[in-house]
Order: sequence, then structure tokens, then C-alpha cells
Amino acid sequence: MDAVKTKFITNSELPLVIEPTDPKMPLSEFLNLLSQQNEFFQKNLLKYGGLLFRNFPIHNEDDFSSVIKNLKTGKFLDYIGGDSPRKKIRDGIYTSTEAPPAVKIPLHNELSFVKHYPSHIYFYCQFPPIEKGETIIADARKVLQSIDPDIKKRFGEKNIRYESCYFYKSKFMDFVNSIQTCHKSWMDVLETTDKKEAERKCIENEFEFEWNQNDWLKISQVRPAFMSHPITNEKVWFNQAHLFDFNPKFLGLWRYLAAQMLYSRKHMSLHKVFFGDKTKIPRDDIYHIMDTLDANTVSFPWQKGDVMVLDNLLAMHGRATFEGKRRVLAAMTGH
Ligand SMILES: [Fe+2]
Repeated sequence: MDAVKTKFITNSELPLVIEPTDPKMPLSEFLNLLSQQNEFFQKNLLKYGGLLFRNFPIHNEDDFSSVIKNLKTGKFLDYIGGDSPRKKIRDGIYTSTEAPPAVKIPLHNELSFVKHYPSHIYFYCQFPPIEKGETIIADARKVLQSIDPDIKKRFGEKNIRYESCYFYKSKFMDFVNSIQTCHKSWMDVLETTDKKEAERKCIENEFEFEWNQNDWLKISQVRPAFMSHPITNEKVWFNQAHLFDFNPKFLGLWRYLAAQMLYSRKHMSLHKVFFGDKTKIPRDDIYHIMDTLDANTVSFPWQKGDVMVLDNLLAMHGRATFEGKRRVLAAMTGH
């Protein structure tokens, strides 16, 4: 296709960078291209796992939304059941995460711990940070190949049980979150303030749920550790065991100790993860997974106006630590 040129900017074939041949290409022409040459973009997305659109005139969240619609990867999805602190900007568009800049978000497939996970995730860089703050990525096919065979066997046979406790809005938790954004209310997680509606959404998403002291809500689900891609049939690592185990390697020692003290009461417990039969996942397994993800990490600096789309099965994403202002928006699509 003459209207665009492609290249790689990392030492991996992820993402495939797509740029306009004519640097003055108007947005309307780019949108037409996405729609009319859709097969070209879809084919490359399946091959490489992720596309980075760079140097196109994408100036605001409306432009971002139009790009998503024209790429035709399904309808916008809400972030129901998601555990990361985010703000909803408009229908289907969120801030990528409000987690503290000093905390690295390890690689993961979006919402891989729930049944209705998105098929694609999009990122739009409105303001790149002064330093670092990359949206780190990895090929989930390569990650699966790199995991220790014994761990793969255990995870494959036993599946994974995720447990999360979410608070009812309270002055105390508002205070905790004002010091450091760290925990969501069930109202934010389920996008409703009504308990009956919250229960309906839990049932719809096949979450087990339990109301606890002070209206805290415990949600749990058992999910597989791997997934096969519905089109390419490739097997991928697809779980968040390492994100539900709040260990010192993930949080850093001081943040870990503070969290242990703050969440010492049963109904306020942090995320927990077990094998599907409720037996403990060895921490060494979790640390091996974190090391394997680090070894497979690909990163590149954001440029203002960049849009990246990832096939949520073929590619994982996370966020490096950063300094200064950073605004990266995210959206998810699916069927
Ligand atoms: Fe994510």
C-alpha cells in the first residue's frame, strides 16, 4: 500500500510501526484508509500482535475514538471487573492507569482474569512523560515458550483462582487513596452504585461474590492460565497470577510492608491468587514468571499523538515507572 510505510523501532518485530508516506495526510484520509484497506491492518495485527500508528494527525480523544471505530475490531467495552485504578473520560475511553508513577505495572493481557476479556486494547499518547513511562509490551506467544515447563504444567492442569476485595466508598479509603491511588471501590469496579445492579453484573460476568463487613465486596473467579487465539489458534500465556500476588518484588519492600499493615483485617484483604483447587501458588513460580516477563519486555519511548493497538491475546502490555506529567488514554474493544 503506497499511502503508508512500515518499519520496526525495537529489536523485536513488535510493534509494527505504520506512518503516512505523505506527512501532511489529513485525518479523514487516514480514517478512510483504515476502513477501506482494513484487511491490510488486520493481517499485520495478527502477524505481529501490535501496530503503532505514528505521525498521523490524532489530536484529541475524539480523533482517538474515530481511529478505533474505523479499525473495526469490535465495539467499545467498559472496564467491568478491572482492578487497576482508572478514570473514565467518555464512553469506552479511560485513563490508562492512575497507579503511582513509582510503581511499575508488570506485563499482562488486559482483564485476562475475567470471562469477558477484550479482544483488543488501544493506547493514545496525549502527553509523553519527561522521562521513562513507556507502555512496555511483549509477545505473549514468546512468553509462553519461555516459561519453565514444570510451571506451565502446574498452571495448565490446575487453572488459577483470583480473589479481590473492593471497598464501599468511605472517608477512610478516600484518605488512603489521596495519599496514593491504590485501591478501587466496588462502585468503580462494577460501574454502578446500586447493590442489586452490582450483583447482576457479577452474575453476568460469572464472578462469585460475597458481601462482607462495612459493605466490602469480595469477588472471585477461576480462569485458565493459557488461551488459544480464536483466529490463528496460537497458544498464549494469558493470566494475571503475578499481578494478584502482592509480593515485595512487585511492590518494593516498604510499599509491601505498608500494604500488609493497612490490609491486616480480613474483610479488607488485598488481591489474592491461588491455584484453581485453592492450593498455594509457590512464590518461586510467581518470581520466575516476573523474570520471564522482564526478559521478554520490549519498550520504546512514546511520541505525542501515537496510537497503539494490541491484539490482547497475542501481545501483553504494562507500564514503566515515570517522572513528570504523563497522559496516556486506553480503550478496549471486543464482540
Ligand atoms: Fe492493562
